[in-house]
Amino acid sequence: MHRRLFISFAFLASLMLRGAQPSAHDSASYDQLYRPQFHFSPQKHWTNDPNGLVFFEGEYHLFFQYNPFGDQWGHMSWGHAVSRDLLHWKELPVALPEEHGVMIFTGSTVIDERNTSGFCKGGKPCMVAIYTGHTPAKGAKRALETQNVAYSNDRGRTWTKYRQNPILDLHLSDFRDPKVFWSQQKKRWTMVVALPNQHKVRLYASPNLKRWTAISEFGPAGAVGGQWECPELFELPLRGSTDTRWVLKVGLNPGGVAGGSGEQYFVGRFDGQHFKNDNPSSLTLWTDYGKDCYCALTFNGLTKNRSPVMIGWMDNWQYASKLPTAPWRGQMTLPRKLSLRRTSDGIRLIQNPLDALASLRSERVDLNLNASLALPERAFQLSVTHDVKHLREIGWKLLVKDDAYATVGYDRSKGVVFVDRARSGQTGFSPAFPQRMEAPLHLAGSVLSLDIVVDRSSLEVFADGGRITMTNLVFPAEGAYGLQFYSISDDGNLVTGPPPPASLWRLRSAH
Ligand code: FRU
Repeated sequence: MHRRLFISFAFLASLMLRGAQPSAHDSASYDQLYRPQFHFSPQKHWTNDPNGLVFFEGEYHLFFQYNPFGDQWGHMSWGHAVSRDLLHWKELPVALPEEHGVMIFTGSTVIDERNTSGFCKGGKPCMVAIYTGHTPAKGAKRALETQNVAYSNDRGRTWTKYRQNPILDLHLSDFRDPKVFWSQQKKRWTMVVALPNQHKVRLYASPNLKRWTAISEFGPAGAVGGQWECPELFELPLRGSTDTRWVLKVGLNPGGVAGGSGEQYFVGRFDGQHFKNDNPSSLTLWTDYGKDCYCALTFNGLTKNRSPVMIGWMDNWQYASKLPTAPWRGQMTLPRKLSLRRTSDGIRLIQNPLDALASLRSERVDLNLNASLALPERAFQLSVTHDVKHLREIGWKLLVKDDAYATVGYDRSKGVVFVDRARSGQTGFSPAFPQRMEAPLHLAGSVLSLDIVVDRSSLEVFADGGRITMTNLVFPAEGAYGLQFYSISDDGNLVTGPPPPASLWRLRSAH
């Protein structure tokens, strides 16, 4: 009797548990305190770099470094999600699992329109993923990193690893993160891949994605404080002209501008074989002055008339394993629209939130009358354009609760935009987390523009029309809804009165 009762309780409990298992469509499973509402995060477990970003047949594909078994780095595989607008994501089963002790590290995906690879069936284009296979060190045997390919003939739902992998093997422990694209100039595939310890990017070319020939190298140059990882090479329009330039972006870990992982970029020309830096190799340009934008990747497969779009991992290796989130750990940045602008310092990368973000706007909040207000949600966009001529400093305290908040501001006397998250809520999980970050910004005139996007645990700042980007995680307490404005005049006095006009939009959840 007792035994039967026990069984039925166990059965009931298991039913209840199963019922509570979140599904990809279960919005409740995305409603945790720190869960971003329109930035991608996996339903559960660990993620790092975005991988294989590609647009194909109406879908944006986001593959991502994923541990299917837990919330720490390990068993690296490619997770998979698709979206039609880059905001609403549907998570799909793991695309490329770790197999035979070989982990699937970062890489890219291309659409093989003309079946150059021979992998495509039925006269239709297919998807080809190019990734690093990582075999961990074992005993006296060193780790091995090689480049490999896999293909899919069903819009990325199932994948086959090429039988003759690897396609590139230099017998090195550090040789990773291939980004492949079709070179229009040379009518062939081009790969940029990192030699992390040599601070070099090596370029390869191939007619068929299987046979690769080394064609050039770039580096060392710029910042070399850590390993070079996740290289990217893409062409961007130069605003106000019909001209273009190429950007070579390189991840650096550690040695980033705000500590830990960060990314630098070089602006130059690419003739299909060599990348030539337009600037002296001693010049370092940073893609982001926050702590949390790493291994950003652009989408392959976008039509020519579309602005290139980039997504990064919103995290830093300094504390990625300690983030206070569950049942997931790791999230992506907002997709950013990219271009180049000629500034008084030279040609610089411009990043702005994708236009589609406006589709999530709900109510517009009038900020003109209040220096302080409360929003009932921690997802909003605040856009300000303001003349700061007579001000020493101007700032917005966000996610305020009691004496905790994150500040975004501009210090005109120092010529810096800053984000201070030192007292922004939960910060104690790593000494590298509570910090004030600064980015140099000497305004051409005296008008400051800031576009700030907050999504529960993320705070992204696009300053001066997108010339400066600062991406940072924050972990505010429940109910941290306050928003306050302050400014300090040239003579050091706190200015009273209404804040400058700004548009403040509440943003809806994409779940
Ligand atoms: C960067 C990185 C890559 C590597 C991947 C492994 O964050 O170290 O170089 O491919 O993570 O997960």
